Amino acid sequence: NVSSFTRVTPSMLAEKNGRKGNDAWSAYNGKVYNITPYAPFHPGGKGELLRAAGKDGTKLFMEVHPWVNWEGMLNSCLVGIMVSESDSEG
Ligand code: HEM
Repeated sequence: NVSSFTRVTPSMLAEKNGRKGNDAWSAYNGKVYNITPYAPFHPGGKGELLRAAGKDGTKLFMEVHPWVNWEGMLNSCLVGIMVSESDSEG
């Protein structure tokens, strides 16, 4: 049940940019993933993957490899769903 996941606002996502010892999170099609554990395994390199850190990576992703099934690959990295800024639970 997706509603039991953490509700992530754009500003919460922006904090998870992989800097200051934080994990790196990215949103893909409205789902938020912790991409930190996957980064060393990304075939395109850690740097490329982290260009989407703290952001919605859907557009970049679709420009590079729309055929890749990220939902299957990142299932265990799923942390939450995107909500609008005013819709967090504090
Ligand atoms: C390659 C996964 C995000 C850039 C790949 C490949 C996979 C993959 C499986 C190999 C594809 C193939 O050979 O057909 C993922 C996943 C992502 C992600 C699961 C999200 C969580 C990104 C982002 C970028 C990116 C955001 C760019 C900003 C690249 C590049 C390659 C690549 C440039 C090609 C590497 C090469 O062939 O030399 N990625 N990727 N990826 N990825 Fe990603």
